[in-house]
Amino acid sequence: MKKNVLSRREFLKECGLLAGATAVATSFPWMTALSEENQKATDGEKLRVAVVGPGSRGRYHLNFLVRNPKVEVKWLCDIYQPSLDKALEIAPEAKTCKDYRVVLDDPEVDAIYVVTPLDTHKQITVDAFEAGKHVFCEKSLSHTCPDALEMYNAHLRTGKVFFVGQQRLYDPYYLEAIRMIEEGVFGPIEGIKTFWYRNADWRRAVPSPELERLINWRLYRAHSCGLMTELACHQVQLGTWIYKDIPETIMGSGAITFWKDGREVEDNVNVIYTYKDGRRVSFESIISNKFYGLEEQIMGHLGTVEPEKGKYYFEQTPPMPGFLRMINDLEKDIYGDLSFAGPSWDPEIARQNHGEFILGKKRPPRNDGSGYLNDAFVEASLTGKQPPMVAEEGYYATIMSLLGQQAIDEKRIITFPEEFKIDYNYK
Ligand SMILES: NC(=O)c1ccc[n+]([C@@H]2O[C@H](COP(=O)([O-])OP(=O)(O)OC[C@H]3O[C@@H](n4cnc5c(N)ncnc54)[C@H](O)[C@@H]3O)[C@@H](O)[C@H]2O)c1
Repeated sequence: MKKNVLSRREFLKECGLLAGATAVATSFPWMTALSEENQKATDGEKLRVAVVGPGSRGRYHLNFLVRNPKVEVKWLCDIYQPSLDKALEIAPEAKTCKDYRVVLDDPEVDAIYVVTPLDTHKQITVDAFEAGKHVFCEKSLSHTCPDALEMYNAHLRTGKVFFVGQQRLYDPYYLEAIRMIEEGVFGPIEGIKTFWYRNADWRRAVPSPELERLINWRLYRAHSCGLMTELACHQVQLGTWIYKDIPETIMGSGAITFWKDGREVEDNVNVIYTYKDGRRVSFESIISNKFYGLEEQIMGHLGTVEPEKGKYYFEQTPPMPGFLRMINDLEKDIYGDLSFAGPSWDPEIARQNHGEFILGKKRPPRNDGSGYLNDAFVEASLTGKQPPMVAEEGYYATIMSLLGQQAIDEKRIITFPEEFKIDYNYK
């Protein structure tokens, strides 16, 4: 217990968020779920949880849940016995079942984790809200935009707590990056370029052919939208978070260019989201080359921040402005004629600027926010208070990913549909 309390305190402190509740409440209102006040109010209480779909991500959450003294894992529910067996190794006291409705009928369950394949999220989540449970649903929320809206509306109608697995909202590096952006350290943000490159086929070994779609659900359109719903939703969320708006239009292009192995989802996509003032968020993913890895490059007039690397860079004047250097070179007769393509006038900013660490020397070990997201869900569910923005950011991240997929599929520019706008002031 003490360890848990301390780690939250350290987290808030590292992010400079212990200075005053006001700072937390204004910049990151969803963090209030982790406030000391909330924590004290829930001391000694237990949230009774069921994990529906304890596969790879579900077991990752389970590891946090079993270490949280405010949680009792009541049920593990999965249609695939090997997933249940592995999950039981983490939570051996839990009961097991194969039908999630058994869990929903249990009045001793307060909250449900929905960690199943994308196409199953909507029904389980809506049924869980109707059964009076709080819900943590993994990203992306749903396979279609109307489904995401139905889920969000079920949360509003029932008043139950709704968290989405967008862990960047609780990642110390992102929080500090956003704080710096909001303080104007990088000047007005003029562009957000995001990319996620891998060199892997995304396939999992299948013990017998009839299990192909259950195990490799990510590769089939009936269950997933591939790179857009699995990866883009984490990164495009920065658009609403930073620009405090949703895009007006979405255009995109995608194809299966390398892994031509029977999959139905693209392995190579590029999508551009354009906001009303013309600024953009772009997302690119290629999974046959991983050289550039994963990053969000947030570019302001005065500097750039890369939260994944945990670094920022101020725009610097090159050692000598390109034009002056050119005159200098000509005066010294280094070049016989005027070559504007000469390499000596490259500003070379990116190569020379090694930047600074976002959290300075005191930076905590890389933590992607998932643990704090879990802790926050538990605290919020115990108090029954929905923190601002968590559900809304998750909702829009899903809608943006799905509209990106639609733009790819229909090969046209999509205008953000009115019917999927929700009442959210982004602040
Ligand atoms: N936030 C993140 O960083 C992150 C990372 C990985 C995965 N995810 C998300 O987590 C979800 C699950 O991904 P995964 O990689 O763990 O998938 P997975 O295939 O490893 O696990 C899914 C589990 O759900 C079970 N299942 C399928 N249908 C079911 C049903 N109707 N009822 C009960 N169980 C059912 C499967 O048998 C499996 O055990 C996806 O939405 C994915 O996008 C999020």
